[in-house]
Amino acid sequence: MTDSRVKVICVDGPSGSGKGTLARNLAEKLGYWYLDSGALYRIVAVVAKQRDIALDDVEGLAKLAGNIRALFKGDKVFHEGKDLSPEIRLETTAEMASRIAAYPEVREALEGTQRAYAEEPGLIADGRDMGTQIFPDAPLKIFLTASAEERALRRMKQLNELAEKNGEVDGQTGDNQLKNKDLNHFKSSDSLRALVKDIQARDERDRNRETSPLRPAEDAVEIDCTSMSIDEVLDQVLLLWNKSGEVASEV
Ligand code: C5P
Repeated sequence: MTDSRVKVICVDGPSGSGKGTLARNLAEKLGYWYLDSGALYRIVAVVAKQRDIALDDVEGLAKLAGNIRALFKGDKVFHEGKDLSPEIRLETTAEMASRIAAYPEVREALEGTQRAYAEEPGLIADGRDMGTQIFPDAPLKIFLTASAEERALRRMKQLNELAEKNGEVDGQTGDNQLKNKDLNHFKSSDSLRALVKDIQARDERDRNRETSPLRPAEDAVEIDCTSMSIDEVLDQVLLLWNKSGEVASEV
């Protein structure tokens, strides 16, 4: 179970709401650890594909999930020494991750791994069920939302940045051309509409699954950040953290 002595701030919400950016900024500001729980589901998706584990092989997927030992270094993600970035950030991976995440067996297999991130001096946990399932005793739970259109725009910006970075870092050869084709797919306005639809379909699946559906914990603070800047959201959450009386002197 959760080690309630370690301070945890949960940041849950749907895709593209900006929770990743908020969580990373909070972790940096407070000097806390950061758990990107979505990346764990994405790693399971990428490794399952590499090992030809079928999407309906629940037992195989759960076994794989139980053995995931991810290493996060900056914005890179490694598994068994292999760099899985940028595969884990592709839309095709997100789609697979969302299907895999609906299996209770997979979710259960990842619970211990996620809780193990709660170490001193504290943790910012980013996901869908951090506040409801993984860290139910956390003293501060944020549920971040934004309109589907705004979320698709933010996601498109992220994908474009990733495509540019991928080109710069790895050159435009072989596999990377394929990856960039996938990333560049979202540049036109038609594609923006397609991205809105993709995001809505994923949210729908995340909200309606039986195990740990996407929903705010009863004691979560809901923030709609459609018309807020990253800094405004960060300031609001830091204020809440101060008011919670947990670490007034740290902020
Ligand atoms: O947050 P991210 O977009 O990386 O998550 C990818 C997918 O993993 C989500 O669509 C969701 O289905 C799943 N997920 C989850 N529970 C979490 C984090 C992510 O079900 N705590």
